[in-house]
Amino acid sequence: MRSAAWYAGDDRNSYIHRAWMRRGVPGDSFDGKPQIAIANTASDLTPCNAHLNEVADSVRQGIWEAGGVPLNLPVVSLGETNVRPTAMLWRNMAAMATEEMLRANPVDGVVLLGGCDKTIPSLLMAVASVDLPAVVVPGGPMLTGTFRGTPLGCGTDVWRLSEEVRAGTLTREAFLESESSMIRSRGHCNTMGTASTMGLLAEALGTTLPGVAGTPAADSRLLAHAQETGRQVVEMVRADRRPSQVLTEGSFRNAIVALAAIGGSTNAVVHLLAIAGRLGIPLTLEDFDRIGGDVPLLVDLQPAGRFLMEDLHRAGGLHAVLGQVVDLLDPDAVTVTGRPLVASLGDASIWDPSVIRTRGEPLLPNAGIAVLRGNLAPNGAIIKPAAASAHLLAHRGRAVVFDSVEDLHARIDDPDLDVDADSVLVLRGCGPKGYPGMPEVANLPLPRKLLRAGVRDMVRICDGRMSGTAYGTVVLHVAPEAAAGGPLARIRTGDVVTLDVAARRLDVEVSESDLATREPAPEMAAALARPRRGWERLYVDTVTGADTGADLDFLVGASGNEVARESH
Ligand code: FES
Repeated sequence: MRSAAWYAGDDRNSYIHRAWMRRGVPGDSFDGKPQIAIANTASDLTPCNAHLNEVADSVRQGIWEAGGVPLNLPVVSLGETNVRPTAMLWRNMAAMATEEMLRANPVDGVVLLGGCDKTIPSLLMAVASVDLPAVVVPGGPMLTGTFRGTPLGCGTDVWRLSEEVRAGTLTREAFLESESSMIRSRGHCNTMGTASTMGLLAEALGTTLPGVAGTPAADSRLLAHAQETGRQVVEMVRADRRPSQVLTEGSFRNAIVALAAIGGSTNAVVHLLAIAGRLGIPLTLEDFDRIGGDVPLLVDLQPAGRFLMEDLHRAGGLHAVLGQVVDLLDPDAVTVTGRPLVASLGDASIWDPSVIRTRGEPLLPNAGIAVLRGNLAPNGAIIKPAAASAHLLAHRGRAVVFDSVEDLHARIDDPDLDVDADSVLVLRGCGPKGYPGMPEVANLPLPRKLLRAGVRDMVRICDGRMSGTAYGTVVLHVAPEAAAGGPLARIRTGDVVTLDVAARRLDVEVSESDLATREPAPEMAAALARPRRGWERLYVDTVTGADTGADLDFLVGASGNEVARESH
């Protein structure tokens, strides 16, 4: 056991380590028993994860049963709806803090409890770097709430209802009345947003027990799974089965196939790139297009479709989906059990074909994320065609450019704004460095005057991210970002932009020489020059582009779990 470096022996230092940890646990707890941390993102300020202490209790039970010693390890928690300026600014900090605490402590293995958007990615980044046996228990989605008889998709329906208010088709009173119906139970957002996506992808990657992901937070089976996970992690420690054996090129292939088939969030791209970066796996943006581009969309969930996570679970869950695309999965990629993911799909059945489609009757034949290149995005940009309007996937229009979110809010509803339904809305200064933190603002609101005229979608381009619960014809993660000197900083209102998703192109009709000689918008340099301290300074100085996962450059790669020096 790694923990023997702390506890074994009869010298002063092992005495100190044992004595302070004795607090009611039996003395033989330190005689070679696996020491299992429960990295717990429970927090009242992360409401989607607030139930995880109860889940942790079940994990503890399983660890004891299997002969291990459970150790509560509260870690940085990020509540998507609360944390300002954006939770993404802190994902790498959460990952770094968890990695360092796992390495610094007498820990042999770890159970990862996450839910809200950034929590599972940060936990997986941490264990990928520290490479200790690890299993995820996704906290699970909330149950479906209803308003005036209609199911509410949290996130997606907030955008929809607020746009209806702006369009004048819903009263503000009715909008506010819906607020108490939005969040029906414990758990994370119930649409196919980032939390749902990353929970399901944690299983597709092999980092959960098979069949766990997507179990609703309020379902008693989640606690049963948590207890089984406690047993499993002890077995993993004994078998020395580590993330570097589970998270392989094959498992990332499986995650990309799953991402397309479930119609998952675009945020998964930046998270999977960051996790792969920690492992030295050469995952690229193009892999998402190459592997996922021809995968059919099989899940009819909001925001691309109609149903919600509770329906997906009822209909057969991720296994039923993966069972339809099993030929596209890597047959050798193993899960935390040591057995191949595909071996767990044998009895997968679809119980409601209106929620999960068969391979022969998909919602869309090609559902993956499309990777665009062109003179506006030399390092790439992405679009999720399944959430876009088909008639806008090939489009040419005049750019209307906004230099910041504040500029957008100040002008978007100006009746004199020179914009029409064919215009292309461009929002820059929202990348990892520029904002900083790459917020979910890429699905910028449509001008009120166009909404009132019945326009419901326009081409939008941004170097930021989009909420996984949002929808629209949105080109996002444009790289290099404007603040890092990308061509997006040089585009002007009135330039003609062409989007051709079939050809994977995003261009501005300005000659290369003209574009190169233009001065970048001064707001981009100003954003970088702002005085900073603490984490924000470290982040802006070292964050990489969205096309490589927006990790800090010095965190890329694994550094293992060795600690040579003693503190006494
Ligand atoms: Fe936590 Fe949506 S706000 S998952």
